[in-house]
Amino acid sequence: MKQDTDFIITLATRNEGKRRELERWLHQRHSPIRLALNESVGEIEETGSTFVENALIKAQATPPVVPGGWVLAEDSGLVVDALEGLYGLSPFPGLKSNRWLTPALRDTLLAQAYPNRMPLDRMTDGGVSNTDLCYGILTLLGQNANRSAQYCCGMVLWNPADGVAIKTMESVALWVIEGEPRGTHGFGYDPIMLLRDDRGEPSQHTIAELSADQKNQISHRGKAFQAILAALANQTSQ
Ligand code: IMP
Repeated sequence: MKQDTDFIITLATRNEGKRRELERWLHQRHSPIRLALNESVGEIEETGSTFVENALIKAQATPPVVPGGWVLAEDSGLVVDALEGLYGLSPFPGLKSNRWLTPALRDTLLAQAYPNRMPLDRMTDGGVSNTDLCYGILTLLGQNANRSAQYCCGMVLWNPADGVAIKTMESVALWVIEGEPRGTHGFGYDPIMLLRDDRGEPSQHTIAELSADQKNQISHRGKAFQAILAALANQTSQ
């Protein structure tokens, strides 16, 4: 018989936005799985060269809160096609989505383009705000007609007890807006991202203008979580 603790997965993240999204995703599907944080884990250095490698590093550095339990980790980011290779990053900003914009670069890049930019919001690990990251991308793209981008997510479910790792990599096609960031939901680059339909046409609303449930239907993280849970169900039914 299954114990309650069989359904507790330890989540290896310090990012509130990601935790909220994954919990809501489970809630919407009436899933018995619960996510728990291991508060004792500090900053984990992301030294991998892919999203999946970084997710595995985070998972393996996080002991499960339930003995014998699974640990879920993800590494995600933005890829802007027209900025490929910029500042030595390929893809750009890719693995450095949260850290490519230093305070010094922010000041040079944005001072002229946006002297009256919106007040700073939550700081990223690198000491600049998410709003600044959005304006940074808008400034670098300028009038470039190629505004194609993707959100990518590498996700790993790791069981330290038996050394099993289930891995997946998912992405979502996007289009970077022209003009000012719009919307207050989501996090990170959501205020400047439009979804694209099957024909590649951008949507009207930015992802930050969608409700949390709408974002969860389409998110790269949701897609990855779905693939991981399907593989887990497959594995445990064998
Ligand atoms: P990390 O995975 O914690 O290294 O950080 C990934 C960074 O990529 C975030 O801090 C955001 O800047 C960006 N990012 C990843 N997923 C999303 C998303 O769903 N919306 C907006 N930005 C995202």
